[in-house]
Amino acid sequence: MLLSNCRAYVDRVIPQAGLDIMSESSIKFEVNRKEEPLSRAELSLKLKGVHGLLALLTLKVDSELMEQAGSQLKIIANYGVGYDNIDVDAATQRGIMVTNTPDVLTDATADFAWALLFAASRRIVEADLFTRSQKFDGWRPMLLLGGEVTGKTLGIVGAGRIGQAMAMKSRGFNMRVLYFSNKRNETLERELNAQKVDFSSLLAQSDFISLHVPMKADTRHLFNQAAFKKMKKSAFLINTARGPVVDEAALAQALRTGEIVGAGLDVFEREPQIHPELLTCENAILAPHIGSATVLTRTKMAVMAASNLIEAFKGNRPPNLVNPEVLNQ
Ligand code: DGY
Repeated sequence: MLLSNCRAYVDRVIPQAGLDIMSESSIKFEVNRKEEPLSRAELSLKLKGVHGLLALLTLKVDSELMEQAGSQLKIIANYGVGYDNIDVDAATQRGIMVTNTPDVLTDATADFAWALLFAASRRIVEADLFTRSQKFDGWRPMLLLGGEVTGKTLGIVGAGRIGQAMAMKSRGFNMRVLYFSNKRNETLERELNAQKVDFSSLLAQSDFISLHVPMKADTRHLFNQAAFKKMKKSAFLINTARGPVVDEAALAQALRTGEIVGAGLDVFEREPQIHPELLTCENAILAPHIGSATVLTRTKMAVMAASNLIEAFKGNRPPNLVNPEVLNQ
């Protein structure tokens, strides 16, 4: 099929570099330029007859939507590394390729996990509000005391690309590193002397626990009331992965009752809604899912998602195909 006969729909505005390469490739595409996502009804009209969808992680792409788009739909290029918003099995059954944007956001996301770790442990947001509201009336020995970072134990849950990057960045802080993962990570063991441990040991021994697992049936509510009870009372939880990995009601309770001392959260169970009790916890730092939000990283993600789409339209295997079995049908 000629590229100029291919039509794509871009779910929301992405950095221009991605749109530019789509224009240069001469495919036809439409972008939803509204601030908010389209309704399902509007979207299904827009998708009718398109060959490619460039989707954000906020768009739930299920079998029904694929059906409404039509049998010509060839590729769903997700703008993000996580693709739990897409029913990949349904896509595979329909012969639709699904792609994501790995690697380019690894450092930005790991950096942000560190930003949350420090913001939570050293109470940066509270300190800013305190100072801004002119409460600072002189140095005090007991003012805004936080948790020590250097020399403490860091527990990584999920030692894939981002988990590994988060752990490697602990070198400057001379930390002991534990990890819980399905697979052994030899790089972490060799470079940091990191120890692979079972879940309970990680909970019991870590001063900081940082989450880097994908959202799957077996990671949903991995952090629940029972897990919080096993954590140190002085521990912090950092989540830049996916919200539903944490039972938000149980976390709010653990923060309120002192089961754990603090949390830094970039993702939430029912985004963009946040559990009301969490909103009242001063010992939680809350961010609006901006782990990968640097100009450079978001630009690279846009180029990567658009390139996946273009390669599929050219009849090639897109570089970041997550369902390669679709090619054997
Ligand atoms: C992803 O890519 O999955 C992140 O959550 C957004 O950067």
